[in-house]
Amino acid sequence: MGISIKPLSEALGAEITGVDLSQPVDDGTGEQILDAFHQHQLLLFPDQTLTPEQHIAFSRGFGELEIHVCGQYLLPEYPEILLLTNERDQEGQRLSIADGGSGWHSDLSYMKRPSLGSLLHAVRVPKTGGDTEWASLYQAYETLPEKTQKRIEGLRAIHQFDQRSNPRLPPPDLRNRDEHSEELIALTPDMVHPIVRTHPVTGHKSLFVSLRFTIGIADMGETEGTELLDELLAHQEQSEFTYRHKWGQGDLMMWDNRCTNHRACGGVVELPQVRRLHRTTVMGDVPY
Ligand code: SIN
Repeated sequence: MGISIKPLSEALGAEITGVDLSQPVDDGTGEQILDAFHQHQLLLFPDQTLTPEQHIAFSRGFGELEIHVCGQYLLPEYPEILLLTNERDQEGQRLSIADGGSGWHSDLSYMKRPSLGSLLHAVRVPKTGGDTEWASLYQAYETLPEKTQKRIEGLRAIHQFDQRSNPRLPPPDLRNRDEHSEELIALTPDMVHPIVRTHPVTGHKSLFVSLRFTIGIADMGETEGTELLDELLAHQEQSEFTYRHKWGQGDLMMWDNRCTNHRACGGVVELPQVRRLHRTTVMGDVPY
């Protein structure tokens, strides 16, 4: 029996059943999954029991994996896996990035080669809260007024990792924030990418900016750039472009960072309820 592919929402996403990702995927199934990935931008594989090794092996089928710059939040024996959890260590220290994933973003857009895609596996899920939401940046681009599409063609935006100088985000809670070491700052200089990004496989254009990482327009004065970026971000977040997911244990979500944004919706009831997700991140290309 082959796999079955069922759309998740009007906006984006499809659910794929009939495949066990803990086992090597045959070539025919692999091609169907890749086609579905390009067509739907976001894939849900429900009910997958995966060890870190199996999660990494499936992810490698899509390209080389990133080792995230926040080394302290990687699984010690599996640096390809970034931990996203509300758990704490014995000293009460966080085990994952402060406010990890809150605020719309595309993974690693602050790097020269932002990520191609991410694969997030739900290891433990809370009864309440902890949803994740995705937005189609194709639809965001396609529904812009023609005048705005023309205005942004060829313009570039500035992407920044350190959220402390992003005027659109609340100031980080000083008791609960990540220190940005000299080394981390050196690894993540501001990066400039086209606002209108062309997908290297589908050829479709997307609106490649985000609330979390985009801080300005490189080719404009500050006042004009701020107004334009505010307008683009407000447009991009409309609910008709989005799909919101309530995690089930074992769900694996895989998305295309070249044409989607996502955010953690928060609202996780505190410990002892646990939300623990493992993420691998596939390397991408320089956007154009
Ligand atoms: C992420 O931004 O990769 C994680 C989102 C989440 O934890 O829901």
